[in-house]
Amino acid sequence: MYANDPQAPARIRLTVPALRKLKAEGQRIVALTAYDAGFARSMDEAGIDLVLVGDSLGMVCQGHDSTLPVTVDDIVYHVGCVARGLSRTFLVADLPFQSDATPERALEASTRCLQAGAAMVKLEGAGHKLEVIRFLSDREIPVCAHLGLTPQSVLRLGGYKVQGREAAAARKLVEDARAVAAAGADLLVLECVPSELASEITAAIDIPTIGIGAGAGCDGQILVLHDLLGLNSGHRRPRFVKDFLADGGSVLGAFQAYADAVRSGTFPGPEHGY
Ligand code: KIV
Repeated sequence: MYANDPQAPARIRLTVPALRKLKAEGQRIVALTAYDAGFARSMDEAGIDLVLVGDSLGMVCQGHDSTLPVTVDDIVYHVGCVARGLSRTFLVADLPFQSDATPERALEASTRCLQAGAAMVKLEGAGHKLEVIRFLSDREIPVCAHLGLTPQSVLRLGGYKVQGREAAAARKLVEDARAVAAAGADLLVLECVPSELASEITAAIDIPTIGIGAGAGCDGQILVLHDLLGLNSGHRRPRFVKDFLADGGSVLGAFQAYADAVRSGTFPGPEHGY
C-alpha cells in the first residue's frame, strides 16, 4: 500500500499557506470526507488534497438522522484513524454540536483534534462564532468556517434546505463570509447555496471556499464519501451528489475520477447546483 511503499514518490504534505496558494493560482481544491484509515489511505493515494472527518459520521457511520448526537470523543477517535492513513492529504476535524458553544470549549475540543492528527478544525455559523474563530486563530489553531446550510442548525431550520435564495439572506451570507475571513478563518465551506451567490462570495474573500451543493464557482469541492460511492444512506439523495464508483470502477478509481472531474471543472455541472 502507498503509505508504506518505499518506491512511492516523496509527496509534500499540504499546509494552510499551500491551500491559499491553490486559490491564488486558480487550482481547484479536491476534498472528501473520511472516517477510517483504509479509505483515507486510498484518498491519499488518489491525490485528494483535503480530507474532513465530518460530523456527518453521525448519519453515515452511526445511523442517526442528524449530526447532533456526535461527540468530541467520536470525532477524536475517527481523526486518529484517518490520520494514520494519510501521508500528504490535509486533515480537517469537525467540531461537533455545542463543542464550540464558547471559546474555551472550542479551544479544548480543537486541541484534542489537533493532538489526534488534524491540521485544522471546522465550525458552523457566524454570529457569536466569530468570537470563537478569533479566539482559536489567535491561539494558532487553523479554522475552517462553514456557512449556508449548517446541519447543526437543523432543528431551527426545519430541515436540510438551500440557504440564501432571497436577496436579504444572500446579502447576509456575503457579510458573514467576509466576517469569518476577517475573524481569522483560513477556509470556508459553503453548503447548499445558489451557485451564483457562492461565486460572488468566492470572489469577495481571500480565503479559499470549498463548495458542496454550491456550484462550480468555488475554489474547491467536497463530497461525503458515502455519496461519492453511491451508498444508500437511508436519506433522500441531494441533487449535488454524483456516484463516481459507477464510472471509476473501483474505490481508488472513483477517487481519481472525482479528483480529475473537480480539477478539470467537469464536476459539479449545472445539474448539481441550485
Ligand atoms: O460533516 C460533514 O461531512 C460536512 C461536509 C458535508 C462539509 O460538514
